[in-house]
Amino acid sequence: MFSENMLAELNKQYNYELYSGYLYMAMEAYFHGKGLSGFANFFKVQTEEERAHARIFYEFIIRKGGTITLDSIEKPEADFDSPLDLFKKALAHEEFVTSRINKLVDIALEDKDHATNSFLQWFVDEQVEEEENFQGIVQKLELIGNDVHALLMLDAELGQRVFTVPAPLAQAQ
Ligand code: FEO
Repeated sequence: MFSENMLAELNKQYNYELYSGYLYMAMEAYFHGKGLSGFANFFKVQTEEERAHARIFYEFIIRKGGTITLDSIEKPEADFDSPLDLFKKALAHEEFVTSRINKLVDIALEDKDHATNSFLQWFVDEQVEEEENFQGIVQKLELIGNDVHALLMLDAELGQRVFTVPAPLAQAQ
């Protein structure tokens, strides 16, 4: 069983993961509007990943005897000055998610809830990868500046990204 606080925060995290997917869908739409289909594809895959993250939380809550509490999902920002501005905002969002995962781990440790702590370790590692991905693209966009040819090359690269089912969901299937 979860503590009341742990269960409330896990349900909140389920909502944040859905919000992440919604935010990245807004970012996908921004790039479709700019004719940059590779960047749009990157965020389509990112949206699928976030939905998978949400599902992983959902199934863990259920498996451990908790109750799912659904809340409304906040409207995402959809107005961006440039691809660089957008990626800086995406990186800031991932840093926020990292702080949320750290908070969940802190609660699990306080509660001596070893099962939840163990479950969360996949997300601790995942957040390192998420921040690294976004940070890498921010750096590339800073180097690209106003070079349209280089921007189109990055668009082609990001168009190659494909969704792979995250390990905790793949194992459960
Ligand atoms: Fe679910 Fe992008 O972290």
